[in-house]
Amino acid sequence: MESKTITQKPEYGNWVSLGLIRKVFFIFIFFTVVDAALWAWLPGWLPLKITVTLLALFTLTAAIYFCFARYLFSPKGKDVQNQITDLLLSRISWNGDGKALDIGCGSGALTIKIAKKYGNAHITGVDYWDGSWGYSKKRCEENSRIEGVSSRTDFIRADASKLPFADHSFDAVVSNLTFHEVKSIRDKYVLIDEALRVLKNGGCFVFQDLFLFRACYPHLNEHIELLRKSGIGNITFLDTSKSSFIPRTLKLPFMAGTIGILYGTK
Ligand SMILES: C[S@@+](CC[C@H](N)C(=O)[O-])C[C@H]1O[C@@H](n2cnc3c(N)ncnc32)[C@H](O)[C@@H]1O
Repeated sequence: MESKTITQKPEYGNWVSLGLIRKVFFIFIFFTVVDAALWAWLPGWLPLKITVTLLALFTLTAAIYFCFARYLFSPKGKDVQNQITDLLLSRISWNGDGKALDIGCGSGALTIKIAKKYGNAHITGVDYWDGSWGYSKKRCEENSRIEGVSSRTDFIRADASKLPFADHSFDAVVSNLTFHEVKSIRDKYVLIDEALRVLKNGGCFVFQDLFLFRACYPHLNEHIELLRKSGIGNITFLDTSKSSFIPRTLKLPFMAGTIGILYGTK
């Protein structure tokens, strides 16, 4: 009998979740049904009918856009998600001795990349895992096992705004596109301060987020100055939204059009 070797592949998911696409399609169907009913049974009311027609068209456009964005982010498309994560990885300035923390680790993609790059390090991934992306602690552990780094990684459910670690616990702290997602905290600078709290003096940090999206980070330069005054002398901001591999279609403000990296040493 022919024997087959089944090679398991890690599943890192997509920043444009199927859940989001389903929601937008559902809203499109809702508006379409209401629109059809209005045109069929309600005489007059033209402004209302046109408004509902436009809403239906808008949600259809949004649904198609998110499907395309999902394709571009995926390895089968332009692999943009992986390349954006690598931008962060390339800024980690660390010899790999000790412990690192990945805040909002999702499916463990960055946590596992760090574990593979630094063969002596132990990496902890924390996330809220509220189900929005289909990410989970189990998925992280499974990916870590498949990638052969499970003995040097652990995954903990925790809130980025209240990390369950003592001050100065880690040699490196990273976070990729998470702070803007933390719903409970409007002031995203609180999350940066919390991440820096658990970093050892002299340790390195790299945070990638929608730093150029003013709705999330209205006074970025002022906050960087405050951090400098508080003793974080070595801090740099890098505009990663200009990276040539990011297609124009993804350069909307709430997508990859406003990303940047804040990195340095404490
Ligand atoms: C866009 S995903 C990025 C995931 C991962 N960093 C990556 O690069 O693939 C945002 C992540 O933030 C997590 N998140 C949202 N709010 C959080 C919170 N309060 N504490 C910890 N993680 C949170 C979500 O569960 C999700 O995994």
